[in-house]
Amino acid sequence: MHIDSRERMFIIGSIVLLVVFASAIAVSAFATGIQVPTPYQRVDPRIVATPGSYPGLGFGDPLDERLRELSPGKYEVYILAQTWAFTPNEVRVPAGSTVTFYLTSKDVQHGFRLDGTNVSMMVLPGEVSKLTATFDTPGTYNFVCHEYCGVAHHTMYGKLVVEP
Ligand code: CUA
Repeated sequence: MHIDSRERMFIIGSIVLLVVFASAIAVSAFATGIQVPTPYQRVDPRIVATPGSYPGLGFGDPLDERLRELSPGKYEVYILAQTWAFTPNEVRVPAGSTVTFYLTSKDVQHGFRLDGTNVSMMVLPGEVSKLTATFDTPGTYNFVCHEYCGVAHHTMYGKLVVEP
């Protein structure tokens, strides 16, 4: 079969591009630690904050029980987003902790971006978003809603305090 030399050039070029793109994805996933937030679980936004509605999920738990220590240095926290607040809006963990964030929305689409980390995800009603990060450096890490959610969108924020 005859393939024109220019056509062959484009075929080879396309394959090279595919390899370059696939490598870029592989490098960002495995070398730079980028995590793609995946929907962890589907829920009913009307009852997700009702205590006991979803055993294992802590969105209906009292505020002081939203942060759970699973084992020394390993935590998970359940943060509920709604117009225009995160509940809880302050979380404290000791330095060196690994924290898994679970978020869901009670109403409209929100976002969760934690400054100084690679934690950034959409927060949708009906879905639980999940991401994990390790905090070795003490300090205050602010988190903000970065999806426009109404007139007071800019007031929707909170902080993670990593204590020495
Ligand atoms: Cu919530 Cu913007």
